[in-house]
Amino acid sequence: MNAAEKRILELRAELDLHNYRYYVLDEPSIPDAEYDRLFQELKALEAANPQLISHDSPTQRVGGAALSAFTQVRHEVPMLSLGNAFEETDMHEFDRRVTEGLDLPVGDLFGGGAEVEYSCEPKLDGLAVSLLYQDGLLVRGATRGDGTTGEDISVNVRTVRNIPLKLQGSGWPATLEVRGEVYMSKAGFERLNATQLEAGGKTFANPRNAAAGSLRQLDSKITASRPLEFCCYGIGQVSADIADTHIGNLLQLKTWGVPVSRELKLAKGIGECLDYYRDIGERRNALPYEIDGVVFKVNSIAAQRELGFRAREPRWAIAHKFPAMEELTELLDVEFQVGRTGAVTPVARLKPVKVAGVTVSNATLHNMDEVARLGLMIGDTVIIRRAGDVIPQVVQVVTERRPADARPVQIPESCPVCGSHVERTQLIKRSKGRETISEGAVYRCVGRLACGAQLKQAIIHFVSRRAMDIEGLGEKSVEQLVDEGLVSSPADLYGLTFEQIVDLEGFAELSSKNLLAAIADSKRQSLARFIYALGIPDVGEETAKVLARSLGSLERVQQALPQVLTYLPDVGLEVAHEIRSFFTDSHNQQVIKQLLAHGLEIQDQGELGAEFAASTTLGGLLDKLHIPSVGPGGAQKLADKFGSLQAVIEADWLDMRQALPEKQANAVREFFANEDNRQQALAAEQQLRDFGMHWQSEKKVVEGLPLAGQTWVLTGSLELMSRDIAKDKLESLGAKVAGSVSAKTYCVVAGPGAGSKLVKANELGLKVLDEQAFVAFLGGHGITV
Ligand code: IVH
Repeated sequence: MNAAEKRILELRAELDLHNYRYYVLDEPSIPDAEYDRLFQELKALEAANPQLISHDSPTQRVGGAALSAFTQVRHEVPMLSLGNAFEETDMHEFDRRVTEGLDLPVGDLFGGGAEVEYSCEPKLDGLAVSLLYQDGLLVRGATRGDGTTGEDISVNVRTVRNIPLKLQGSGWPATLEVRGEVYMSKAGFERLNATQLEAGGKTFANPRNAAAGSLRQLDSKITASRPLEFCCYGIGQVSADIADTHIGNLLQLKTWGVPVSRELKLAKGIGECLDYYRDIGERRNALPYEIDGVVFKVNSIAAQRELGFRAREPRWAIAHKFPAMEELTELLDVEFQVGRTGAVTPVARLKPVKVAGVTVSNATLHNMDEVARLGLMIGDTVIIRRAGDVIPQVVQVVTERRPADARPVQIPESCPVCGSHVERTQLIKRSKGRETISEGAVYRCVGRLACGAQLKQAIIHFVSRRAMDIEGLGEKSVEQLVDEGLVSSPADLYGLTFEQIVDLEGFAELSSKNLLAAIADSKRQSLARFIYALGIPDVGEETAKVLARSLGSLERVQQALPQVLTYLPDVGLEVAHEIRSFFTDSHNQQVIKQLLAHGLEIQDQGELGAEFAASTTLGGLLDKLHIPSVGPGGAQKLADKFGSLQAVIEADWLDMRQALPEKQANAVREFFANEDNRQQALAAEQQLRDFGMHWQSEKKVVEGLPLAGQTWVLTGSLELMSRDIAKDKLESLGAKVAGSVSAKTYCVVAGPGAGSKLVKANELGLKVLDEQAFVAFLGGHGITV
């Protein structure tokens, strides 16, 4: 054996072991990056020595040439299905049949019967597969088909990451058929649908369809790109028995590297089975994959043999189902709701139907693109899905059941609330800094605060906890205030009197006084919260913070030109235009004036943020003008050569050619020959100067905030302050606060109950502070809590 061959075998064994630890034991033993390194090394060695590539190499999970059809496979041992139980009484009935069938004493109301041992497992919602191992090597994968004949999907199953291509250890029967479910996790499903949507491809209604659609692909390269997983629940054909119980079999398979459920349990008697059903039922939403019930199997293999089969179902096993998450119903109508920013959203009115125990009569349709994607018509029969705590969704139309009088869904021309015109705006999707126009469109009522629906939502947002934080003003009260004409803009809240409030439904003397006090209290507010409270389309809390931190005063935020706004992190041209058009709107200007007239005191830092000041360079400005064919590099060359915008504008062709190649030089001159372009560029430059910037400062390093460039993570519970406050404090010192720990994390603040993030931080040897130390640290930067 030469050195390459030896190393290849070593790498395969090592990667197989890491896979086993990762997928089967759930105990990853090396960081992903290290795994990737080993994997790349193996790939390179195999590429250099193609004669050494073997079928069971971990590099061979990429799929092969596309097939024109699947070949058929006969199952030596038929793949059966399961009887279903929906009620507890069905389960007692099942237990009685088992007990009688085994000639054991059957109990009565007072107990006294034999307690049969059952294995308990979740019933995964995917599709059944058979994996055939010969001498420890995976030689065939097949679907269940009709139970007797299935399809050969060997190439496809090889791409599923946690299916062992080779068994670990030793002692396996020469012929071993492993059976189980191929499924897609909830997270994998969401991710897949998001990518499909982005690519304009078809999305899947649920993880089960996604798993089935992914596994039964003639082109196995597609299968390889899908996040499929496998879980074993039994065996088929074997050349020798493994253990004498079902659980014994599964545990033995696990030592050979076959993934089995973490939820596998032994129950003594039907009572413990019912406890298991309830426990899993309570945890159903939190499980990372979808299940439609649990499966109970008589644990003793001898007892299973004694009980045998009835038709196509074993007498020794049963599926105890949970309420279904999908149901069929009829789409009675589509109505339109108007949101805070005026977006007109279609809502499905449904014939009431019980889904997973809850009656559903409405479902959001998100937008008209979604209606088009579903091909929805009024009168259609639709599949409604309510997964966990998620709001009900229409996932599919049953087109075969479309009635002859089905009507198309039409967006109204005028607002259903205020009658104003409904405007159609093309959605501009930005991808990697360059703008691409997407197919999508949003519809907006142009009524703004004159539209009752928008006004109500705007005020509900304005008073909300993370905005102006006016406690005691619920949605119902806001609706009353608007309906009675007491409030027609957020500013009117500050003019409310005791008499007006006390007359509202649900208010008494004390609550009215409290509300007035809360309104008065809200007048002192940070700039970031105030900007967020204004409800500018596309400006969430994060963007509001960035605006406040970078521009430092309300006046600058109000005046900022779109080109200047795009200097801010994560603000693209589209958001910049939303911000600009919000502040140039005369009605909005009026409202802000009134708010300030009511004595609002906006707390700001007054000065420009250091990070922002450092990022505004002449090269950056020239780049942001998007001069055709001039990229960031060209823009910088212009800045270096000319030093001011005026000089660039006035430069003659020869000078320009010294900085740029001919084509770009021409483009720059052409661009500035246009009066509008010139004016816009000069206005942006002037504004930056007004804000206190100097191009001369370009190269000078601006002293940043003390934690600039650092990423912090908060974990566990904090007792001396809320997480939001801790985050605010860190951000005010210039730190970024992230949700997960990585090698890039600078420091982790860990309160009591900190879990995996703290473990990871310690593993990576990061700096960790407890809350006391954190408070002391803040104190050191002049921040008191
Ligand atoms: S045992 C003879 N166990 O449910 C027993 N099936 O309704 C055959 N399923 O085709 C199946 N999780 O696709 C078994 N823990 C589990 C299961 C399970 C999901 C699926 C499987 C089977 C169907 C039967």
